[in-house]
Amino acid sequence: MSSQNIYILGIESSCDDTAASVIHNGRILSNVIANQKIHNDYGGVVPELASRAHQQNIVPVVDQAIKKAGINKSQLNAIAFTRGPGLMGSLLVGTSFAKSLAYGLKIPLIDVNHMQGHILAHFIEEKDFIKPPFPFLAMTISGGHTQIVNVKHYFDMEVIGETIDDAVGEAYDKSGKILGLGYPAGPEIDKRAQLGNPKAFKFTKPKVEGLNFSFSGFKTAVLYFIQREMKANPNFINENLNDICASIQYTIVGILLDKLKLASTQTNIKHIAIGGGVSANSGIRKALKDGEHKFGWTTYIPKFEYTTDNAAMIAIVGYLKYLNNSFSNNNVMASARLKI
Ligand code: KG4
Ligand code: ZN
Repeated sequence: MSSQNIYILGIESSCDDTAASVIHNGRILSNVIANQKIHNDYGGVVPELASRAHQQNIVPVVDQAIKKAGINKSQLNAIAFTRGPGLMGSLLVGTSFAKSLAYGLKIPLIDVNHMQGHILAHFIEEKDFIKPPFPFLAMTISGGHTQIVNVKHYFDMEVIGETIDDAVGEAYDKSGKILGLGYPAGPEIDKRAQLGNPKAFKFTKPKVEGLNFSFSGFKTAVLYFIQREMKANPNFINENLNDICASIQYTIVGILLDKLKLASTQTNIKHIAIGGGVSANSGIRKALKDGEHKFGWTTYIPKFEYTTDNAAMIAIVGYLKYLNNSFSNNNVMASARLKI
């Protein structure tokens, strides 16, 4: 099969972002995202509101992605969509839309695993970005995921560690809520952390065997610590905010790095790729760079717009599956707990 002129539309609707992207031979032509601000007032994603917003956004978002790509929809070779994992009500909107469009245009449908999308985003053709060689370790860290995957080939991946409760982004967001910060709190904690003393306060790291993570105990530790200190000094948060943020960040980055080091030693893989919203974090980026000198790692971080939830990552998986002749049946179902 020729890979000369392949146009794929990718659609992502697994959580609270409605996104569409057109990819041409591995290069992104458009990457459109409608964020749902409505959840900020609730301090987290409200599933029912998310699916309603997807319903409103999906037609204009897809329309814009095709227009921005400068193509006509009749040029599309296939439609790729996120099948799961994610919120069922949200996934259903993208799945149904993708099916109808593929049916209408009489082109193939390609179902995509969202977690594979985060990982294969590293294979988007992008100037000055080097793709990781197989095998590599991929750590996906966001508000919904915390996972380390041994990536042997595009579609040969093994999850070797994951969270047994909260995701790392939730640890940031919930700590932020305790401190009275807005949602999502990760970026502000990160900003303040750079101005504070990381060793001002000590939080114990959870003891979880092997390569798995746990963050629910950390959030409780932050809560008890703040309650105790506020009893003694009602101004404690205001007077120490940067130091508290720096100490939280120091602990979280330490947890992530400990597991990455263990994964690298156990697998003897030194190519490390990260993705997901938390990969924007300055602490984790610095720790990875340090790992290049300390442990001989080579690290890979995609452009920010390809690390948070987006449809370009769905489009690249669609492209790779297209080349691989991996198409879906029209009766494929959304799956909230889809595994890698
Ligand atoms: O990938 P993403 O945009 O959405 C999903 O959760 O799927 O990730 C959002 C998460 C939020 O929890 C947010 O607080 C966190 O990423 N985040 C950060 C930073 N930027 C975003 N956490 C720590 N440091 C940051 N700079
Ligand atoms: Zn995601």
